[in-house]
Order: sequence, then C-alpha cells, then structure tokens
Amino acid sequence: ERTMSFPHSSRTPGPESLMPPTRTRKRYATRVYIIALIAAIGGFLFGYDTGVISGALLFLKRDFALTNFQQELAVSSVLVGSLIGALVGGRLSDWLGRRKALICMGLLFALGALLTASAPNFSLFLLWRVVLGFAIGVSSFLAPMYIAETAPPALRGGLVAFDQLLITAGIAISYWIDLAFANAGMGWRPMLAVAAIPGMGLLIGMLFLTETPRWLAKQGRWQEAEQALTHLSVQERREEMVAIREAVRDTHHVTLGEFAHSGMILALVAGIGLAVFQQLVGINTVIYYAPTIFGFAGFHSASVAILATSVVGAVNFLTTLVSVLIIDRAGRRPLLLGGLVGMFVALVLMGSIFALGTSHTGYLVLGALLLYIIAFAIGMGPVFWLMSSEIFPTSFRARGASITTFFNWSTNLLISITFLSLAAHLGLPVTFWLYAGFCVLAFLFCWFIIPETKGRNLEEIERFWKQGRRWEKPESI
Ligand code: GLC
Repeated sequence: ERTMSFPHSSRTPGPESLMPPTRTRKRYATRVYIIALIAAIGGFLFGYDTGVISGALLFLKRDFALTNFQQELAVSSVLVGSLIGALVGGRLSDWLGRRKALICMGLLFALGALLTASAPNFSLFLLWRVVLGFAIGVSSFLAPMYIAETAPPALRGGLVAFDQLLITAGIAISYWIDLAFANAGMGWRPMLAVAAIPGMGLLIGMLFLTETPRWLAKQGRWQEAEQALTHLSVQERREEMVAIREAVRDTHHVTLGEFAHSGMILALVAGIGLAVFQQLVGINTVIYYAPTIFGFAGFHSASVAILATSVVGAVNFLTTLVSVLIIDRAGRRPLLLGGLVGMFVALVLMGSIFALGTSHTGYLVLGALLLYIIAFAIGMGPVFWLMSSEIFPTSFRARGASITTFFNWSTNLLISITFLSLAAHLGLPVTFWLYAGFCVLAFLFCWFIIPETKGRNLEEIERFWKQGRRWEKPESI
C-alpha cells in the first residue's frame, strides 16, 4: 500500500502553502508554458501536414499526371490515417502512457515526412500519407490531453487552446512554405520534407518531459505522480493530488457500455456533438480549398489565389491567439456561441455574394471568408479541442477523447470529400447556406448541452456529469 505525503482533506494553509514569491511563481508559470509548448508541437504538425497539401497538390498533379479522383485521394488519404489514429490512439496512450505515445508519434511524423517526400510513385505517396495521418490522428487528441493532464486548472483553458494555436500556426506556415518553394520552382518534395524538423523536435522535447501525474496515478505509481507535479506551486500541487486521488480511486479499464452506466453518456454526447459540428460548419472547405474558392470568385491567377489564402491562414492564427489569451477569463460558452453567430452571418453573406455575382465578387468573398475564419478561430476551433480533453474524468479521458476525435475526423472527411460535388450540383450559394444551416443547429446544440467549464478542475467537471448536469458549488470567480 503506497502512501502519499499530501494530507487528504486538510486545506489549512501551512507555511509551505503560502503563495510563493513572484519570482518563484514566474518560474512555475514558465515551466508550465514550456511543457505546453513542447506537447503542442504535435498540434503544429497536425496543422502543417494537413495544410501543406493545398499547394503541394498543384505540383503532385503535374509530376504524377493525376486525375481529379487521384487528387481527391491525395487530399483525403491523410484523413483516413487520422481516423485510424483517433480510433486506436486512446488504447495506445492508456497502454504506453501519454509521454511514450507522443515520443513514438514524433518519430512517425519525422519518418512519414521523409518517406512521403521521397516517394518514387503515387501509390507509395498515398501509403505514407496514410501513415502520417495516423500520427496526426493520435496526436490531435493526445497533445491537448497531455496538456490538460499537466496544467493547473486556472491556466488549463489557455494552455490547451494553445495547441489549437499551434495547429493554426502549422497551417499558416505550410501555406507560406508552399508559396516559397513554388516560387523557387522546387516542387512538392521539399514542402513535405521540412516537416521532419518539428517531428524531431517533438520526439526530442518529449524525452525531457515526465509522464502525466494522472496517468501515473492511474497505474498506482503515486510517488512518481507526485514528482510529476513539481512544475506546479505547493498549493496547486496539494490541490491536484487531492483531486487526482479522488478521481483515480475507482480506476479500471473503460468499455463503451460503461459510458452509459456511469452517467458519462451525456459528456460523450456533448463531445461528439461538438466534434461533428466543428466540421459541419464547413471549416475545412476553406482550409483545404481556399485557392479554389478564390478561383470561383474571379481570382484567376494562381499566385493571387494562394496569396489570398495565406492571408486567411495568418488571420486564422492571429484570431486563435486572441482566443487563447482570453478563453480562461471570457469562458468557453460566450466565445463558442458568439463565434457561431459570426460564422452564420459570414456564410449567409458568402452564399449571397456568389448568388448575386457582382464585379467585386473576389474582394467581397475575401471579406466574408475573413469574417468566417475570425468567427471560427475565436470559438469553435479552440473550444472543441479544449473540451474534448476536459469533459471526461481521468479513467474515461483517453477513450472519450479518442471517440470524439474519431467523429471529428470522420466528419472532416465527409465535408472535404463532398464540397466540390455539392458546389457542382447544388451551386456554391446553396452549399454555403447549407453550412449556415449547420451553424444554427450547432448554436442550439451548444446553447442547451455545453456547460461552462471555465475555472473548474477536472474532477468538478466529472461530478457535474455524474450528477445529471449539475454543478456542486456556484461558479468560482
Ligand atoms: C481545427 C479543426 C481542423 C481545422 C483547423 C483550422 O483544429 O479541427 O479540422 O483544420 O481547426 O484552423
């Protein structure tokens, strides 16, 4: 029987739990940020490896003489891999631990980048994109989960949303790198190869970090769990250990049926709903097809279309930065709901601009797309990834986040693979209005189902679901 050195229920502040001096507090905060930054390289690679294809596609098409269908395969192969990664990643990270699983993904990202970049033929290219997709799928939920399990509650929102910030940084940088290598006439291979560098960064960085305290505790390794909290202040450490002990008391392997029996089914519904709506509002038609949309809008020169796309990528990044900075103060719900209203307006405008077709269509579409991306990046973008890592209790977290991530990638695939056909058959206006309709449904869903988790620790959130969606204590300030 292992014991813990932190008392179970005592909250009496002893001398060691007095607030540390500012310098010490800063040191703790810096450590917390560095940990989040390293894990979020997983998010950066997610963004880079999905965004890079938009520009690389033009050159792949030329080199391998691709048909339209083959081009769709080039885009969606990575999504197929991500689906598989999301499915098995939960088990993988329960079994290996969060840290080792992320180290393996770093290796896979680096290898995958080099192998796709040097693929001698299109079939091997597709195969390596699926493998790369696997690493994307696993780390798309594992990176935010690692951060959520190591961050102090007061900073958790911002730190997990930081992962989304690096996703958008990855997308933006991939657009700019595409542009640079395209202008230099170097083609698609170097565009894909450079991702090996952050892949190695993730691998090496994670070697320096510890396993998450929650996973260690779940394995019964209490002493190591305590040691893994040294990046927190004494007060935070004490509170975390109490919270973790409560959460881990009844750990066992979670089966799907147990979500239903334990009252966690509502949390699962909330997570899956957010996952599906995050994609149904059409975000990746913009991320993967922006140059095409600008083409439809009359920007016929490819370089102008790619340049406009890079602006969208940069605005996506900057708005996500704002969201990360305010999410723990503003709360999740206002950003989510406000963002959905903005997206609805932007999509109705987009459809109307295409329906009316004026001579200024190109610039108006750019304006509407910018409004759309701002509204997505302030809410839906970061809030889904944040919530899928904080709404499940420890023993359910890997499984739960893995399931919601699977739904996210499936819907992503559905939207990305149907966009061009929908545009051809229904017309662009109706297609955008359809996504606007999904914004309305998403708004209703979030309004009625998604709780405000700002400032709550993971265990309070757990009890909220178990008690039938009721908070125990009134909202903390
Ligand atoms: C979110 C979405 C992802 C999208 C990205 C755009 O991370 O999950 O599919 O590409 O935002 O910023």
